[in-house]
Amino acid sequence: MSTAVTAPAIEAPARTGPGRAAIIGAGGGIGWACVSAFAQAGWAVTAADIDGAAAQETIATASPPAIGDHTALALDSTDPVAVGKMADAAEGIDAVVYCAGIAATMPIAQTDFAIWRKVMAVNLDGAAIVASAFARSMIARDRGGAMVFVSSAAGQRGEANASAYCASKFGLIGLVQSIAAELTAHRIRVNAVAPGNVDTPMLRDVAHSIAALGEDDVDRVWQALSTAGAARRLIEPAEVAHVCLALCSPGFSGVTGATLPVDGGYLLSP
Ligand SMILES: NC(=O)c1ccc[n+]([C@@H]2O[C@H](COP(=O)([O-])OP(=O)(O)OC[C@H]3O[C@@H](n4cnc5c(N)ncnc54)[C@H](O)[C@@H]3O)[C@@H](O)[C@H]2O)c1
Repeated sequence: MSTAVTAPAIEAPARTGPGRAAIIGAGGGIGWACVSAFAQAGWAVTAADIDGAAAQETIATASPPAIGDHTALALDSTDPVAVGKMADAAEGIDAVVYCAGIAATMPIAQTDFAIWRKVMAVNLDGAAIVASAFARSMIARDRGGAMVFVSSAAGQRGEANASAYCASKFGLIGLVQSIAAELTAHRIRVNAVAPGNVDTPMLRDVAHSIAALGEDDVDRVWQALSTAGAARRLIEPAEVAHVCLALCSPGFSGVTGATLPVDGGYLLSP
């Protein structure tokens, strides 16, 4: 369905440079790397995670201490009131990276819909709640901005026993394209990244779940995940973080609505 209307030309998106970035899901592997990359690039960082202690730990270990004014907070991204408070914070946020997420391994015939709902709530509803709150505050401040949402290669190609996760990550790409179209008029750019298999606590948990489901050996599963697709290697969290940083940087002022694979060629034919 298209709701296109004739509209006047708009000016180019704001050339967002180091300002304040919110990293949501900052206590995890990719979140940690994002905090580190943004802080090193001179951004002040607000690190948020449902696990407030993990967000604190990220700030303590990832930030170059002498640069920027970094803060950590406990935030459940599925809580619209809490996310709204964060978005309306006095200092204002110029860039948001949404890397909160959870995975679930379950055959469709044995779907536990409480788990399905939880995956959707964090991976997709949380992303929409964050997009809505930060769009509202960025529009009100009228100086543009950038948002990046961490989807997945599993948001571009289906994977067995991962229906909830795949559906949430495919959905995230649709969400990004829709809001990118809408927010261009406000000089706010919205993009997604689609990592392959990244060496983080989440992937290690997934390896255990796959091994348990198939009554397989976890080391063998880990080896298979580590050498899958044309990539034949794991992606480092920093490789994802640097693409997120680039997407929020002035050099990418012409990029919006895109999904950038960060998978080392994982989805290509070997
Ligand atoms: N690791 C991979 O192979 C891989 C591949 C593709 C995409 N991704 C995606 O990258 C993102 C980051 O994953 P990761 O590998 O760093 O996982 P991770 O488990 O290390 O980190 C995820 C973080 O999200 C936080 N979180 C969960 N629910 C939350 C909520 N409601 N509010 C706020 N924070 C919440 C967790 O506490 C955790 O710190 C996720 O969206 C994941 O789906 C990961």
